[in-house]
Amino acid sequence: MNLHKFITDAIHEKLAAIPDLGGADISTITVEVPKVRNFGDFATNAAMVLARPLKQNPHSVAEQILPEISTLPFVADVSVAGPGFINIKLKDEFIIESAAKKSEIRAPQSVMTIDLDYGAYNVAKTMHIGHLRGSIIGDTLYRIARFLGHRPISYNHIGDWGKPMALVIAWIIKKFPNDWNKPDFKIDESEFNSYYPTAAKYAKEDAEFLKQVLQIKKEFQDGHPEYFALYEKMMKISLEEMAAVVKRLNIVPFDNTLGERNAAQYLNEVEKILREKNLLTIDNGATIINLKTESDTAPMPPFMFYDSRGADTYDSTDLAAMYYRKITDNPDKIIYMSDFRQNLHFEQLFRASEMAGIFPRNALESMGFGGINGKDGKPLKTRDGGAATLNGAIDMIEEAARARVLESGKNLCTDTVKMIALAALKFNDLMHDVKSNYIFDPDAVTQFEGRTGPYILYTAVRLNSILSKVETSVTDFRLSTLEIEERNLLLTVLDFERTVSTAFDKRATDILANYTYELCQMINTFYHNCPILRNDVSADIRAHRIGIVRSALDVLSRAIDLMGLEIPKEM
Ligand code: ARG
Repeated sequence: MNLHKFITDAIHEKLAAIPDLGGADISTITVEVPKVRNFGDFATNAAMVLARPLKQNPHSVAEQILPEISTLPFVADVSVAGPGFINIKLKDEFIIESAAKKSEIRAPQSVMTIDLDYGAYNVAKTMHIGHLRGSIIGDTLYRIARFLGHRPISYNHIGDWGKPMALVIAWIIKKFPNDWNKPDFKIDESEFNSYYPTAAKYAKEDAEFLKQVLQIKKEFQDGHPEYFALYEKMMKISLEEMAAVVKRLNIVPFDNTLGERNAAQYLNEVEKILREKNLLTIDNGATIINLKTESDTAPMPPFMFYDSRGADTYDSTDLAAMYYRKITDNPDKIIYMSDFRQNLHFEQLFRASEMAGIFPRNALESMGFGGINGKDGKPLKTRDGGAATLNGAIDMIEEAARARVLESGKNLCTDTVKMIALAALKFNDLMHDVKSNYIFDPDAVTQFEGRTGPYILYTAVRLNSILSKVETSVTDFRLSTLEIEERNLLLTVLDFERTVSTAFDKRATDILANYTYELCQMINTFYHNCPILRNDVSADIRAHRIGIVRSALDVLSRAIDLMGLEIPKEM
């Protein structure tokens, strides 16, 4: 149940029934959940909103509406505070009843089809640390959208068409001049991912090689059969690697693994649209769209549709991919998630889309993630000083989690250690503001105490263990009053749906992660102060507290699932 919505609706309805409100707009009256619940469980600005149309001061308005609000069946107490805030305290009985109802999530008022573009790995290139946040946050937003009743469609917009492809093809040709185009030529998987960085470095030093690469890029995109055969072999290896990462990260498999090459098939259609609108111009041999507007103060480079060799570009294939989504999913929104370094690219893409009339600006969003830094504040490195890779980051966390478990003297199986590691990694990522950089500290995030993934899992394991010790015949919620710890916990449990909706509306996964942490703190305070299984606890109190444990675990498990974590059997 979304308690906040329930209370807000009830207050709106009550106030709307009062005659002579001076034509006030009731919908602007808000209900807040105060940070500390000392004065009430909810607070409303109703008296302040009504003061103006009624031409009275907020306090006297409050005096008039208090009696009305107090007749609402869930209200235990109302009072006025500060400049005219009305504080509302709920009846314990009402809280218990609400928690006892099995929570069912109702579909949103308007169900949206939302294309989510995240992950976005590259063929023939090792997945790098910049892909980590996109994968984790993208997956959580996908799960949240689905949970809220929307229709999310995920896209792994793979890089499989640009210069990196040509670099690797050129390198393989250079390395295996006699064999590369034989049908039975096999790419050595153990070396494969080293080709791109080696070739890229070489191309910087050797102008002749670079020229060859650009020529290959053009010919490849024009359908050169031997390059294509090689490309298919590269593709196979990379797709397997991507699938392995998806599994290792426990993210929901992508609905679509379609990238630049797929999009390129629609370039002619997009070009036609752009030509009809007279948007394409030639600039130094390249075909571009001029994106600058009068109001731009920052530089706005043109949209590169074809480069000076006539080859497709990252820009053009992205626009074509958007067109493809338009004619297939026709989504209400597309959300692009990637590293903040691509913010300008998306600004360009959105302008081009709007000018071409493919999607209006307000249907397009981009989320530029902050970076992941090492303890020195610089982009995360591996031990030997190279740029950290996505798998390398998971390895580091797994190693730290193993050390932590060993140190604690617990005997946990490998799978459990992996679950703990993944929880540490993902929770830490999710709890930070998506736009901010954060420091990656494997030792800190794998601690079992504090704002960490392992702490979250540990709390769930503890609740599961309590439930495993009671008979299922123990029925829930026999009492009508609540201890303070029980009350705080249930109010937080009942705030779950609002939290998930807000996290989605604000595209802020940290809201969900930090809510989950607070929920766990309340669960543990409750656990310490309100005995459940002890011999001196009466049957009624035990049943009642088991009811609380069940509601808390229900919400905690859902939150854990939305973050893409798994609860181990023991910890
Ligand atoms: N493949 C790109 C990279 O690794 C990210 C693609 C992001 N999505 C997009 N539609 N441009 O940097």
